[in-house]
Amino acid sequence: MATNADRIAFRNALGSFATGVTIVTTCDKAGQDCGLTANSFNSVSLDPPMVLWSLARDSLSMEAFRDSEYFAVHVLAADQEPLSNGFARRGADKFAGLTPDRGAGNVPLLAGCAARFQCRTAYRYEGGDHVIFVGEVIAFDHDDRAPLLFHGGRYALAARRAAALTASNAEEIDTPGSFGEDFLGYLLGRAHFQLYGRMQACLARHRLDATDHFVISILGIQNGRTAAEVEGMIGFTGARITPEHVASLSARGIVRPDPATDRLWLTDTGRGILIELAAAAKAAEEEALETFDDNEAALLKHLLKHVIRHTDPGLPDPWAPADAA
Ligand SMILES: Cc1cc2nc3c(=O)[nH]c(=O)nc-3n(C[C@H](O)[C@H](O)[C@H](O)COP(=O)(O)O)c2cc1C
Repeated sequence: MATNADRIAFRNALGSFATGVTIVTTCDKAGQDCGLTANSFNSVSLDPPMVLWSLARDSLSMEAFRDSEYFAVHVLAADQEPLSNGFARRGADKFAGLTPDRGAGNVPLLAGCAARFQCRTAYRYEGGDHVIFVGEVIAFDHDDRAPLLFHGGRYALAARRAAALTASNAEEIDTPGSFGEDFLGYLLGRAHFQLYGRMQACLARHRLDATDHFVISILGIQNGRTAAEVEGMIGFTGARITPEHVASLSARGIVRPDPATDRLWLTDTGRGILIELAAAAKAAEEEALETFDDNEAALLKHLLKHVIRHTDPGLPDPWAPADAA
């Protein structure tokens, strides 16, 4: 390949092939653990069971893998991105802080992976600036964990395609003033109200309306804010915090307004209610995400954060440190 630009273009083109991420480990002749992050892993044969991966010729691990009869491939789980980064650091002490199990040939076996394949090196092939290792799988295990993915040079999130989610295949509707069931506003609104509906019993028990709930939630994150500051943070809801609201929360012992500073403080009663509301919200979230795996739940939240950031008119962030808010 002639130029550097060609190399980059080739690399980018290869990046359009989405892969999982593995860590391949071995133990060298001196008994030293050795390993690296690799996404060149692939299946080769079912009978006999065989897999392959390729190692850059200039890898510091080359000697260890060339000399060892065994290696282990660990298919990483979605929450193992830090481990992947650690094993992608050239020459680093990659096993620091880890206490791996031992497999065939004393090969280190890492925990918490989606799958692990212990292999005996069957063949080695020259592959340009890489060496291809083909291993016969002598043992494997597999856990039902969402996998870590890599696409376009970055870690990625993916969702499994569900069977048809709607009756009508969500066809575009052309009638002016109408919208189809794929309209984002409808989807977000309906998801919100159905989720929120699960919390209504808890709110009703404490005679709280949606605005009361907003106030209690914000004070739970940023206690001691004025009504105007709280209103600013929930500006996306359109709710107004009137003096009547504050008086009602105060009369019920949920919020204590400080007349000298205009600040609102959650009382112990308010905190107790907040904890109940948070538990109800968590239960509603768990129920809503019940059929999702880790990647799908992370993907949904990731994309919603994108929408929120992209449409944010510039509201103060309730999670910013108090002095920066
Ligand atoms: C997602 C990802 C996939 C990688 N895949 C490979 C691969 O298949 N083969 C390889 O030799 N290096 C691969 N690398 C790079 C190595 O992990 C990296 O060069 C590592 O520092 C090599 O360590 P060593 O030189 O200490 O052996 C990959 C890195 C990342 C982040």
